[in-house]
Amino acid sequence: MFAVYAESFSTDDPLSGLVVGEQPDPAVPDGWTTVTVKATSLNHHDLWTLRGVGLGEDALPMILGCDAAGVDEDGNQVLIHAVINDPSWRGDETEDPRRSLLSERYQGTFAERVAVPRANLVPLPASLSFEEAACLPTAWLTAYRMLYVRGGLSPGQSVLVQGAGGGVSTALITLARSGGLQVFATSRNEAKRARAREIGAHEVFETGARLPERVDAVMETVGAATWNHSLRSLRPGGTLVISGATSGPNPDSTELNRIFFLQLRVIGSTMGTSRELARLVSFLDATGTKPLIDRILPMTEAREGLAAMNDGDVFGKIVFTRR
Ligand SMILES: NC(=O)c1ccc[n+]([C@@H]2O[C@H](COP(=O)([O-])OP(=O)(O)OC[C@H]3O[C@@H](n4cnc5c(N)ncnc54)[C@H](OP(=O)(O)O)[C@@H]3O)[C@@H](O)[C@H]2O)c1
Repeated sequence: MFAVYAESFSTDDPLSGLVVGEQPDPAVPDGWTTVTVKATSLNHHDLWTLRGVGLGEDALPMILGCDAAGVDEDGNQVLIHAVINDPSWRGDETEDPRRSLLSERYQGTFAERVAVPRANLVPLPASLSFEEAACLPTAWLTAYRMLYVRGGLSPGQSVLVQGAGGGVSTALITLARSGGLQVFATSRNEAKRARAREIGAHEVFETGARLPERVDAVMETVGAATWNHSLRSLRPGGTLVISGATSGPNPDSTELNRIFFLQLRVIGSTMGTSRELARLVSFLDATGTKPLIDRILPMTEAREGLAAMNDGDVFGKIVFTRR
């Protein structure tokens, strides 16, 4: 079948190991099913995979992609929850120590077909297109859990989103605004700051600029480049939720004194549960909120999308279609 996959890893030139070609159909273990992929979306995770982060050489060749919306074996329109659990796991899927994401241990979604556990299928409402739905399982679910589960935010509170342009960040801005929060955002790029305002940020700032007031919570995916600013932007007792470290995991200062003296809470967050994915779908259905799509490309043009993300030339989600 057609597939976009990693055949080797490179830290400095991640696209060098990318192949747009053919791979065998996926194996379908007991309790799993096959979904015909109609749309999928790109995540920074796919660049990490091409850099060899999160999987070893023995996993190659690995079909990329965590997200997909498509049609199941019974003809139902579905989206896929990307967290794959050990069959014996019960409870919050994100806390399973043996969990993986599609494209880490099991072949991913940048293909004609993908195999997933039946329990990972979520019905697709008529209000969302395949392209919109394909944005949800990783970036949008991560943003939902950061704000409303791990962050515990309520309408009327304030939040700072670091690095406005990314897939997770644009989801954070949109979901925060739809949920009644006061939204601040930063970006390195003036055009992206203007776009952030258009999609719901009340105020936008250059990366690292002082805010007019301290916020209840900061949503952090940038990592080392913004960590100090994030901690300095919190009110006493405020909460920093982190789900990624694109610019690196080791900030100049960890700000330990500030964390204890101001009684800040630093909370990790990863993906979300299938129940939260279903709630996110309901949230969008009820509010009419739509995922922000940067561009839609045929899956055969996956290299173009990955190059744009590698260059930071993205505002919202890059979607690949297979028709
Ligand atoms: N834990 C999880 O479950 C989970 C799930 C999804 C994503 N993630 C992680 O979250 C991160 C973002 O993912 P994504 O798919 O949204 O990636 P993306 O679309 O490539 O976005 C990257 C973001 O990082 C910002 N950025 C990058 N380098 C920066 C720097 N040096 N200084 C300031 N800002 C910088 C960009 O902001 P501007 O260009 O606007 O400045 C942009 O918002 C990745 O590290 C990813 O692995 C984790």
